[in-house]
Amino acid sequence: MQFAERFKGRVAVITGGASGIGVAVAHRIVAEGGKACIWDLNAEAGAKAADAIGSQAHSVTVDVSDETSVTRAVAETVKAFRQIDILVTSAAITGPNATMWDYPPDKWRQVIDINVNGVFYCCRAIVPEMQKSGYGRIVNIASVAGKEGNPNASAYSTSKAAVIGLTKSLGKELAKSKITVNCVTPAAVKTPIFDQMSQTHIDFMLSKIPMGRFGLVDEVTSLVTWLASEECSFSTGAVFDVSGGRATY
Ligand SMILES: NC(=O)c1ccc[n+]([C@@H]2O[C@H](COP(=O)([O-])OP(=O)(O)OC[C@H]3O[C@@H](n4cnc5c(N)ncnc54)[C@H](O)[C@@H]3O)[C@@H](O)[C@H]2O)c1
Repeated sequence: MQFAERFKGRVAVITGGASGIGVAVAHRIVAEGGKACIWDLNAEAGAKAADAIGSQAHSVTVDVSDETSVTRAVAETVKAFRQIDILVTSAAITGPNATMWDYPPDKWRQVIDINVNGVFYCCRAIVPEMQKSGYGRIVNIASVAGKEGNPNASAYSTSKAAVIGLTKSLGKELAKSKITVNCVTPAAVKTPIFDQMSQTHIDFMLSKIPMGRFGLVDEVTSLVTWLASEECSFSTGAVFDVSGGRATY
């Protein structure tokens, strides 16, 4: 379901906006009257996604794990759109599936760099833009893995638990302002991210969902866009579940 003008006059940055959940959020925000700035490492996919959305979308090539790249992306976004009202941090990788004692340290660092430090750099650089107007909505995409700790995915689970902690801290720091910070913890949703995981791991994730099915991108998008809207005004530093009953807390 769409709400015609929910994002009228609002500019959203969506990291990882070229694919999966991120691109669906970008589509929905523009369909509901807003502008979307797609931030992605994949320049070609980002440009293609922005083209498909239309004139209210723009793409910026950025590596969220690189602080300088993020600073540049903020400048480019503000130049194109003058303001940033919404940040959805969707960029992430899974890292390999392996036990912790077999986990390659360089892969561990890469997961933490993108999934945790990337969210930190983006929030750190964009909050001051929101403070200029006194309004903002930050929605971090964590994962049920951050609550439950999936075996053979320790770097990813650790990174998503960190995103939950980061969300709680920042939400409290900004609680007296009109900038809210929340996160969502989806269970498995079929997107291109599945290509990074072993079939055994995908089967394990499905087996843990009481509804017995994967989530749908639209089901996550609906929750994310509500959290990104003005309607969500009395929730901050909170963790919102969308896991088909897997994590009922
Ligand atoms: N799909 C799921 O099952 C699922 C479940 C729980 C949580 N999540 C989370 O949802 C979010 C979106 O996942 P998705 O399924 O849409 O994945 P996806 O792989 O389809 O999209 C991720 C996007 O992030 C981009 N990206 C990767 N590294 C980047 C970097 N360093 N800088 C900028 N962009 C980068 C990729 O190019 C890609 O476009 C992620 O945070 C993921 O951890 C996904």
